[in-house]
Amino acid sequence: MAQRTPFVGGNWKMNLDLARSTALASESGGVAAACGTVDVAIFPPFPYLAKVVEVLRGSPIRVGGQDCSSEKSGAFTGQVSAGMLVDVGCSAVLIGHSERRHGLGETDAVLAHKLGRALEAGLLPIVCVGETLEERESGRAHDVIRTQLRGTLAGQSPSPGSLVIAYEPVWAIGTGRTATPDDAEEAHRTVRQTLADLYDVRFSESVRVIYGGSVNAKSAAELFAREEIDGGLVGGASLLAEDFAVIVAAASAKGKARR
Ligand code: 13P
Repeated sequence: MAQRTPFVGGNWKMNLDLARSTALASESGGVAAACGTVDVAIFPPFPYLAKVVEVLRGSPIRVGGQDCSSEKSGAFTGQVSAGMLVDVGCSAVLIGHSERRHGLGETDAVLAHKLGRALEAGLLPIVCVGETLEERESGRAHDVIRTQLRGTLAGQSPSPGSLVIAYEPVWAIGTGRTATPDDAEEAHRTVRQTLADLYDVRFSESVRVIYGGSVNAKSAAELFAREEIDGGLVGGASLLAEDFAVIVAAASAKGKARR
C-alpha cells in the first residue's frame, strides 16, 4: 500500500470577509489535531493571508495563496509574487486552478513559469489540471490532463514531495456534480502514468494526487477510500468549519490506515 500522507486543501476562493476569515481559521482546532496523519492547507484571499497566518501561528495547518505571479518582482500591477507569499508566512500556493486557466486564459506556458517561481521560493505548489465538460464528452479528457501536466511541469525537476497534483474536472467545480470515484480514479491513473513518463515510476508513486470538484462531507469518505485518491481540494465545503473537519477526518482515517 502507498505510504503517501493524504492532503486536503481548502480553497476559499473570493469568499468571506476579514472577520469571517479569521473566525473560520480560529475554528480549525479539530482539523489541526488531525494533522500528522493528513496534511492540511487553506487558501484564503490575498488580503486576508497575513491575518489568517497570525491566527494559525503554531498550528500545523499551512496557509497558501490562490495564485502567484510568473514574475519575481517589478512593474506588474496587481500581481503577487511567490516571495511575497513566503514573506507573509505562506507555505503553499495553487497553480493553474481552472478558474484561472479557463476564467482568465492562463496558458500552460505561463503556469510553468508560475510553478518555477513557487518552487524556487520554497512554496508547496498544488498544480491543478482538469478537463471541461465538452472535452470529457468528446472523449478528450485524458489527453487534456496529459497536455496540461506536461505543459505546466515543462522544464521543472521537482522532487515528488515538493508538489501536489490536483485533478479538478471543470464540470464538477461548484456544480454539486462530483466525479464518480471510478472516473476520478481513472483520471488519477492518467496523472500518474504521465508523471512516470516525465520522471519515473518512483516519482509517480510517491507524489500526492488529490481530487477536487464538489467534494463535501458526504462524498469525501467514498472518494478517499480509493487507493489512487490521496485527498481533496475543497471549495464550497471548506467555508463550513464542521464540513471541512469531516472531510479532513476522512483523509486522516486513510492516512492512519496507510501507516
Ligand atoms: P467546489 O468544492 O466548490 O466544487 O470547488 C472545487 C474547487 O475548485 C477547489 O479548488
